[in-house]
Amino acid sequence: MKKQKKEVEKEKRIKKEKKNKIEKSPQQKSENLDEDFYFLEPKEKPISRKIERICTGVHNFDSFIEGGFVKNSTNLLIGGSGSGKSIFAVQFLMQGAMKNEKCLYVTFEEKKHEFYSNMLRFGWDLEKLEKQGKFFFLEYTPEKVRTMLEEGGGAIENIVLTQNISRMVIDSITSFELLFSEDLEKRSSALALFSLIRKWDCTALLTYEGSPSPTKMPGSRILDFESDSIVLLHFIRGETKRERFLEILKMRGTAHSLEIHPFSIEKSGIVISKSKVTKKPLKD
Ligand SMILES: Nc1ncnc2c1ncn2[C@@H]1O[C@H](COP(=O)(O)OP(=O)(O)O)[C@@H](O)[C@H]1O
Ligand SMILES: [Mg+2]
Repeated sequence: MKKQKKEVEKEKRIKKEKKNKIEKSPQQKSENLDEDFYFLEPKEKPISRKIERICTGVHNFDSFIEGGFVKNSTNLLIGGSGSGKSIFAVQFLMQGAMKNEKCLYVTFEEKKHEFYSNMLRFGWDLEKLEKQGKFFFLEYTPEKVRTMLEEGGGAIENIVLTQNISRMVIDSITSFELLFSEDLEKRSSALALFSLIRKWDCTALLTYEGSPSPTKMPGSRILDFESDSIVLLHFIRGETKRERFLEILKMRGTAHSLEIHPFSIEKSGIVISKSKVTKKPLKD
């Protein structure tokens, strides 16, 4: 009697599992394996726990962001004029070039000759890297970006895809934003730019010239929302001199530092200090 009850219970359980849409694997079907064994068919690619990181090459910065920018992320670097955005951006590309990655620098503002000579002061020989096919310098007008967005590609996409670019900098996107007067237009063009960049398999760093103060941040909130990370460069006037600080406002998927880090521009580029700021809170 007891045995019969057990059998009935087993049958009920099997029926219930079948109802719950737990299917047999094709292997089980073909091999007619034991009815008691079922397993779930994976519907989507499993989500990996491991996030791949890209070393930025900015001294000490990577230790504050779990090892680097998230691979293929779009990162925003915000700071006022002279805060160190272009130096930071080139340092990020140099790190890639050193590892034989192909790097693209798109600029609306910098003149190539002068720019190369300024960067050579840090020992970064962009001309040599260009000849080796590791560094690409693209002078671009904001109008060209407008066409690129309308047509969905253009010269930037051409280089990214044909050269297999893995690190890209756009320095800066401020002038591009000024092209559009209407807020709605600004938002939709920013969205289009981000979705284009996301389509390319590269880690991007976009600079934005503006106040890094979170209360006075860029008008277009879409930039903040769409970017995977926001790093702020402060250049603050103290009583007797200006001082530089770096702050990480957000970085998706990353337990990043919440400290305000002093930094300096040395012979080897930007060096972030590991010491904490103990003075009164920053205001810019
Ligand atoms: N070789 C150098 N050594 C030390 N500091 C430098 C050197 N070159 C530039 N700087 C500092 O960096 C500033 C320019 O940095 P940059 O990255 O071009 O700023 P941004 O792009 O934010 O306007 C200069 O105004 C100067 O203060
Ligand atoms: Mg600059």
